[in-house]
Amino acid sequence: MTIRKFRPQEAQTIVDLTVDTFHDVSIARQLDNLMGGHCGSTTWKDRKGDEVRSDILANPDGVLVAEEDGEVIGYITCLVDPVSRIGWVHHMGVAKAHQGEGIGRQLMEAGIEYLRREGMECCRIETTENNDVGRQFYPSVGFQEIARQIYYAMKL
Ligand SMILES: CC(C)(COP(=O)(O)OP(=O)(O)OC[C@H]1O[C@@H](n2cnc3c(N)ncnc32)[C@H](O)[C@@H]1OP(=O)(O)O)[C@@H](O)C(=O)NCCC(=O)NCCS
Repeated sequence: MTIRKFRPQEAQTIVDLTVDTFHDVSIARQLDNLMGGHCGSTTWKDRKGDEVRSDILANPDGVLVAEEDGEVIGYITCLVDPVSRIGWVHHMGVAKAHQGEGIGRQLMEAGIEYLRREGMECCRIETTENNDVGRQFYPSVGFQEIARQIYYAMKL
């Protein structure tokens, strides 16, 4: 398994990995559930995919992938802010068949190393209360909890 910079032609693969892996942990999907199937004219898959596409457009250099046997099996997107020097691990996902093999941790280490090289002095990440893996994983890397947020929505 190698970790490397993503290639532009892999954008759709990263979007597909996101939709496959975020099913149980996506706020966008919880919103669709609350609204009885889908929210507005789009589905959670459309919106989640767009979020990751935005990361790729905003900072393609900060998108790293894990490749095994020629296949992309995981990714991480890192955003930088040269003014504040606060970086952000914005999305990451590992193919279900490969979860629990240490790939996420290696992607995280590579992402943090990238952010350090870019001069970031602090790194942010967010997870949800129902994401048991994130809540275990991120503190074990060194992240400290700073706040909890509540998301509301209502039908119009
Ligand atoms: C989060 C994710 C990227 C982690 O990738 P992974 O390759 O499975 O993670 P690793 O095997 O490297 O494990 C990293 C750490 O996560 C935690 N972890 C992994 N599997 C876990 C499980 N089933 N239950 C609780 N914690 C778990 C552990 O702290 C683990 O470290 P350790 O093995 O040293 O104890 C992956 O689970 C995923 O794609 N999840 C769905 C999408 C998602 O939640 N993305 C992040 C949104 S905030």
